[in-house]
Formats: sequence, C-alpha cells, structure tokens
Amino acid sequence: MSRSAPLAPTCTSLVLVLVLALTACDGGGGGAVHGSPGASGVRDPYFPKAGNGGYDVTHYDLDLAYEPDTGRLTGTATISARATQDLSAFDLDLKGLDVDGVTVDGKGARWNRAGQELTVRPHAGVDEDATFRVTVRYHGTPGTITDPDGSEEGWLRTADGALSLGEPTGSMAWFPGNHHPSDKASYEVTVTVPKGLRAVSNGELVSERSTGGRTAFTWRATEPMASHVATLAVGDYDIRRSTTAGGLPVYVAVDPTLAGASRKVPAEIPEIIDWAADVFGPYPFSSTGAIVDRDGDAGYALETQNRPVFPGVPDTDLLVHELAHQWYGNSVTPKTWRDMWLNEGFATYAEWLWQEEHGGDSAQETFDALYDHGDRTYEDLWSFPPAKPTSAAHLSGTPVYQRGAMVLHKIRQTVGDTAFRALLRGWATAHRHGNADTADFTAYVEKQAPGKDFDAVWADWLYGDGKPARG
Ligand code: TRP
Ligand code: ZN
Repeated sequence: MSRSAPLAPTCTSLVLVLVLALTACDGGGGGAVHGSPGASGVRDPYFPKAGNGGYDVTHYDLDLAYEPDTGRLTGTATISARATQDLSAFDLDLKGLDVDGVTVDGKGARWNRAGQELTVRPHAGVDEDATFRVTVRYHGTPGTITDPDGSEEGWLRTADGALSLGEPTGSMAWFPGNHHPSDKASYEVTVTVPKGLRAVSNGELVSERSTGGRTAFTWRATEPMASHVATLAVGDYDIRRSTTAGGLPVYVAVDPTLAGASRKVPAEIPEIIDWAADVFGPYPFSSTGAIVDRDGDAGYALETQNRPVFPGVPDTDLLVHELAHQWYGNSVTPKTWRDMWLNEGFATYAEWLWQEEHGGDSAQETFDALYDHGDRTYEDLWSFPPAKPTSAAHLSGTPVYQRGAMVLHKIRQTVGDTAFRALLRGWATAHRHGNADTADFTAYVEKQAPGKDFDAVWADWLYGDGKPARG
C-alpha cells in the first residue's frame, strides 16, 4: 500500500477534529506526518536501549569495503522492514562511524544521532504494516565495544585484517540495524577487500569477483539470523570445503599459521553435525563450517551462524558447544538477554551428552562432580540462578552455563532418558527459526510431561538463590 499522498490531508483533518491528533501528527520534522516515533529500545531487562520499537526487519543487504591497512570501512546498509505501528520516526542502533546519508524508500530522510541511536525521520510517515526500505550510507573506523563483563567485541583488528564479534551488543559497531535477538532477518553481505585477502561471513558464498586489485565476496544467509551471530572475518585464510554425509556444505576458513594444528577441524565438523542432528533434530541451516583465527584475535569463541568463530584451534568439546548453539541460540533464539541460559545451558549439556556417548563421563557423573565440588573450579557456580543473572556483567557467568546444564539434567532425572531426548528435540522443533523465553520453556516441558512435578526444579534450580538441595 502506498503511504505518501493521502497522509497529509488525513492528518490535517484529524487535527481539526481531535486534539489528541496534535501529538500524533507531531515529530515529522517537516510537514505534518502522522504516527509516532518508534521506541529507542525494546526494553530488554539487561540492555534497555538494544533494538528498537515500531518495526521488524525482514532483510539486511550490506555492501561494504574494508581496508585493513587503515582500518577504514565504507558501507551501504539497505534494510527492509515492516512497520508494526504508524511511524513518524524510528531508530536504528549504530555505534561510532560517520553517517553520510539516509533514504527511506529512495527519498532523502532526516536523521540525527545520540549515543547508539540513529533516529530516522522519513519524509512521510510509514503506515502500520507497510513494508519500507531504509538505506544508510556510512564510513569510518569501526571500533571495539567493551562488554559489561569487560570482554571485547564489535570490530576486532587482527594481524591480517579484522574479525567481528556480536554477542551481546557488538554488531552495532559495523552496521546499523535492529540489534536485539528478538528481531531476526535474512542477510546478504558483500565485502570488497584488497586482492589476496578473503572475506568470510554467514551463510553461503554466492560470488567472488576480482577487479582492479580488489576482490568482492558476496555471502547470503537465507534463514533468519539474529544480529549478534552475524559475523565478518577479513584476512588471509586457507579455505577447506567439503560436504557432510547428508550433503550439507562445509566451509572452514583457517588462519594459515594454524593450518597444521587445525587439520582435524574439517573432519570433526561433519561428525559432530551428524551426531547433533541425530540428537537435536534436523540441522536448521543450509551450510556449516568454522572460522579459525589466531589465539589472541578474540577473547572467546562465538556461535556465529552457520560457522562459529574460534580464537585458536578448538578442541572437540568447544566445537560441540558452538555447533550445538546452531540449534539452541541461533535457530531457537532467546526473546531477551535474560534467557541466555536457554543458549548456554543447552550448549553445555550438548558437551555432556557428547562425552557420555563417546567414552567420557556420563552426564550424571558430570552433574555429580559439579554438585559436589564444582565451586572449586567455578567459585561463582552458586552465585545466582541461571534464569535471573545478577546483571548484564553476569550473562556469560558460570551459573548460566553450568547450572543451566544442571537444570536440564534435573529435567532428565524427572522424566527419564527417552522422554528427555524427545524434549530436547521437540523444543528445537517447536521454536525452529523463532524466539522463545524461559516461561515458554517451562510451559513446554510441563505440557510434554503431564503428571510430572517440576515445581522444585523450577523454584530451586532455575530461579532459586544459593545451592539447591540435590533433589
Ligand atoms: N556465547 C559464547 C559461547 O558460549 C561466549 C560469549 C559470547 C562470551 N559473548 C561473550 C563469553 C562475552 C564471555 C563474554 O560460545
Ligand atoms: Zn555458548
């Protein structure tokens, strides 16, 4: 539906009749524009300014050029979205960088910036349910963002290029967007780099073209993706391509200095993916792989969609962890950052299950060891319940990972092995390519296991303070 010409007269006549409409028509920054500004955040309990209200992104098209020598990034982001309210203005999240121009549906739009909020005022409003396209041209030297827990993310420069890490808020360092896990979208990313270097991103490589000393790589991620698991790696990489037994493309990019040490990685990935598909259900994406950079290039591994990022050669447990996130975290994505244990508890439990089925400790043994003396290794193990991290600085704390996995083990003890397997698989299926929160999870478990009593598991293990009774 067109939303240009009829708007102003409608708005004017509303003003004549309704005093209320005065506020609804304000905020256009030009002529009378109806609607109201979208919220500057989605009120995440830990990052209230993350994401934005009033629209849903369906697709990001990023056209970028990067110069490793200077650290300069030049970009055009074209964002397709659908309005969820009548909008006079809306925000995108972007940290640092200089904005050169913004259009909405091809027409110049007013914009201004305050902190991480880039506020866009389209020349005419956007009607609720209308689809629209925002184009942001920008450039600059993207920076790192320091997490509340002190870790570094955003845009990390490396010896031979750069690596982006987005969890929880790093992606706003390299492209404008609706940077909250609740708004997933498809992506197409084209990156032009000096010839000889490569650019690796999510999804599949659809083209690679060299002209005049530069190469442009186009990556397409068709399944919905949360922006914190978008990635871009620029550098000198050895590429190993293969396919899993089921025909899934595997694309592994390895820093050449680690070529020997990471020889096993391309063989381990298909083995883990096939095992995980057996346990968790069909793999949710159209390709897999990994990006293996040097040890110091990042402070942590991340489950970036399709192909996780590793600083240094991953061991098998870490590979299992990040690949399990493709089901739990990337396909089933938390509604808010408070639900982080739905990612980390599951990915940690995947490691326990892998060990149990590959000659290591049983999950029961892992649970018992953690319960009895886990606080010797993890002194914060009992410091807060997994579903209620103390603050944004605790989202990657031990209770989210280890005690989150213990919650799953308590469920397994309550329902038995067979029903537990069905739950793991069923949860991934029920919310495939969607979002879910802790209440969705507890409701799902109770519905699937009628007559079982989970009260103590929820009250003590999931939400309760302190060390729970073993139960
Ligand atoms: N989610 C990542 C993983 O489990 C780890 C991670 C992401 C992290 N962001 C972080 C760890 C910030 C510490 C701090 O694989
Ligand atoms: Zn994890």
